[in-house]
Amino acid sequence: MKSFFYSYKLIFAAIISLFIISCSSDNNSSDSGDTDSVDENKSIEIFSWWTSPGEAQALQALVDVFTDDYPNVDVINVSAELGHGQDAKTVLNERMAANDPPDTFQLGPRDLQTWIEYDGDTSDNRLVSLDELFKSEGWDKDFPREVLDVVSYNGHYYAVPVGMHRQNTLYYNTSLIKSSEIPTTIEELFTLAEKLKSEGITPFAISAGTGGWTLEIAFFSILAGSQGAQFHSDFYSGKLDMTDDANVAKLTAGIDDYLTFLTYTNDDAGDLGWDAAAKLVYDGDAAMYIHGDWATGYFTSLGWKPGVDFNAVPVTGSEDEFIYGVDAFALCKDAPDEQNAKNFLKAIGSPEAQAAFNIIKGSSPVNPNVDTSEWNSLAKATLEQLKNATVLHNVEVNQFSVPGATAKDAATGIADQLLNLYTGDITKDEFISWIVDNYKAATSGE
Ligand code: GAL
Repeated sequence: MKSFFYSYKLIFAAIISLFIISCSSDNNSSDSGDTDSVDENKSIEIFSWWTSPGEAQALQALVDVFTDDYPNVDVINVSAELGHGQDAKTVLNERMAANDPPDTFQLGPRDLQTWIEYDGDTSDNRLVSLDELFKSEGWDKDFPREVLDVVSYNGHYYAVPVGMHRQNTLYYNTSLIKSSEIPTTIEELFTLAEKLKSEGITPFAISAGTGGWTLEIAFFSILAGSQGAQFHSDFYSGKLDMTDDANVAKLTAGIDDYLTFLTYTNDDAGDLGWDAAAKLVYDGDAAMYIHGDWATGYFTSLGWKPGVDFNAVPVTGSEDEFIYGVDAFALCKDAPDEQNAKNFLKAIGSPEAQAAFNIIKGSSPVNPNVDTSEWNSLAKATLEQLKNATVLHNVEVNQFSVPGATAKDAATGIADQLLNLYTGDITKDEFISWIVDNYKAATSGE
């Protein structure tokens, strides 16, 4: 029903555009390269799952930079119209399955393969290579190597990255915890949690109402904090020998700490999404929150001042690591308006767009030419950590969680197991065996 509605809308927009084009014979700007030649009286459709406070405004900031340059191009933000990010993902899947693509959509590097080898078919690529754009804008040289790597597939760039989010972030409400109280070890973190609990405050907010991905963020953050950057990054990069009992013992100790952490969280996580969990901290019902730093956008959109009403630091013990996720936008094959879609993608990679977007979103820009000199102390501290820490992309570990699966299915695999562990559907021992067995199979090349 929904996809019919949107197809209808698109056809309507196309008819209007054709009408306008036929009425105005000579209104095109002159050709000046691939991305600038454009009929401006058109619309492009974008899909994103950013509908929560903070992220929705950040998306609008990207759109605004584009429409400043192309005021006559109407940007149809499907997520805003649907009102929920999850619905936008569902409608996007339906539309792609029906060969009715939008112009551009948001994705994470985990999703690349599923679109480039659509439905497992290596000859059915639903995205268009953006190599020329990366070259003409100098992004292939300017953007950080690790980010370029994760937005490419088989040597071609397929998505324009707009920001890097630190996932191992510990938020705290400064009216409940002073910065000087933030500890340096996981044991001390639990001592602080115990104290808060005895005062009737939930130490940590958590959510599990939209799948296991929120638990996955907390799990890997605690594992890194508990067992140290070296163990964690070896685990991530597939370098651990899981036939060695000492490594299994370390993994088990990390899982034990994660389970201890869960005892200090709110009971209603199954009913909450990530933003509702953040709200517990905002309301003063919970003191801390381990989550990706898009929660900064959420808090500031409610009026909180970063570094004043709340603060954020790397999760205790994980200071040497910056576990990041990238948000990016891709160009659809058979996009109804490829030219304007390219112009949109060009705009969102620019320093101007990334300056406007990332300070609202809570992320760090990918384009190094953004002027961050006036950014607040929290945003600057995050940038500083990014510069000095070991930078790890959140995809890699998942390649070791379900051997042979796409990154997306592997990520879902471990997130599902964490949800099962959370709900008690599997035991700790079953969870450990699941990881160890898959890891062994993946790293032995079976
Ligand atoms: C993540 C995305 C973030 C944030 C979050 C919640 O996948 O990378 O930018 O928006 O979802 O919507």
